[in-house]
Amino acid sequence: MFNDRHFPLLPSFALLLLLSPPHPRHITTTTRPRNPNRPAQSLGLKTRTLEFVPNKPTLLITWQGSNPSLSSLLFNSHLDSVPAEPSKWTHPPFSATLTPEGKIFARGAQDDKCIAIQYLEAIRNLKARNFVPTRTIHISFVPDEEIGGIDGADKFVKSNEFKDLDVGFVLDEGQASVNDEFRVFYADRSPWNLIIKARGVPGHGSRMYDNGAMENLMNSIEIINRFRDSQFDVVKAGKAANSEVISVNPVFLKAGIPSPTGFVMNMQPSEAEAGFDLRLPPTTDPELVKKRIAEEWAPAVRNMTYEIIEKGPLRDYMGRPLMTAIDDSNPWWSVFKQAIAAAGGKLAKPEILSSTTDARFMRQLGIPTFGFSPMTNTPILLHDHNEFLKDTVFLRGIEVYEHIIRALSSFEEAGSV
Ligand SMILES: *[C@@H]1O[C@H](CO)[C@@H](O)[C@H](O)[C@H]1NC(C)=O
Ligand SMILES: [Zn+2]
Repeated sequence: MFNDRHFPLLPSFALLLLLSPPHPRHITTTTRPRNPNRPAQSLGLKTRTLEFVPNKPTLLITWQGSNPSLSSLLFNSHLDSVPAEPSKWTHPPFSATLTPEGKIFARGAQDDKCIAIQYLEAIRNLKARNFVPTRTIHISFVPDEEIGGIDGADKFVKSNEFKDLDVGFVLDEGQASVNDEFRVFYADRSPWNLIIKARGVPGHGSRMYDNGAMENLMNSIEIINRFRDSQFDVVKAGKAANSEVISVNPVFLKAGIPSPTGFVMNMQPSEAEAGFDLRLPPTTDPELVKKRIAEEWAPAVRNMTYEIIEKGPLRDYMGRPLMTAIDDSNPWWSVFKQAIAAAGGKLAKPEILSSTTDARFMRQLGIPTFGFSPMTNTPILLHDHNEFLKDTVFLRGIEVYEHIIRALSSFEEAGSV
């Protein structure tokens, strides 16, 4: 239900939602936006649609700075969202409903269409005050983040078009904060998919013998689980955040000999398989984890094989961990901090993000990149039913970006950065 309060931003918010249907549909041409450039063009900004993969456009918006010899700033947002189950929502997830209490219910309200519109509205306000940026500002709206970004941000940052932008600093999405401190992320964990397979002696279900496939697999699962506990204990003891340890969680088990009614119950299978979602903090040595997998989790002596699918980079082009400095070695960090303070905001201790965003592709190029979404006092509802954002929080976020854009784009010292 819409209330009758004047809320000029909602149409653009709703437009953005309509431009970006959830995944299974976005590859069809019928859902392509008819005129994706209009909101930015109304601000007099230069727009370009880049299509590195057919039907997966990236919209690049540019506000030219007065000193093109300085590196530019990039504000990134992904335009896709995860799907929603409308029957489990109190409002239609793809309508951007504003309730009388000021909650904007929409898939993507937090993740991350809010920032896409806030970038543009902040520029609108700065232009209205005749602000002229020194550094050029780019905004990119990329596809496919939710499915790994391979056809989205990954292709974009590896393109000549990106190179020509001479990007010196990037802001990408962050996450909501449940208190009044803004959260900022300087690294993501890197996801690995691990599949372990056991082979073993088949036999009658009544026989007790060693080295069955199920036994071999279950031994591995116990060992992996002990490792999981050791990591989780560190978190429970308050010595590290969830995102600072290696997480390993079982996500599938596959075994048994199918029968018309389920599984054959008197046969011990000769093969069994399990899948794990692993997340590695940026400081993890991937070789050590691989060694542990090869020697302990899926050793050949136990007739185990394994497959690791690395879902993205772990190191930057120089072989350094994928993390952005949060000390004096990174001049952007202090400018960013000061901008938040100037906006009257408080910044929480910088964090590693538990999950993964497009930021890793920019960090891979060695470009300082922070994850930031200006949402305070907001429950974390990304990918959840009834995702919402309060209008007041949304509007406050525009002001915060005004300060950020003003400060970063006026920052001249990092000429060589
Ligand atoms: C591994 O497979 C070989 C050949 O089938 C078998 O002889 C051996 O007992 C198996 N070992 C284990 C630990 O399963
Ligand atoms: Zn997101």
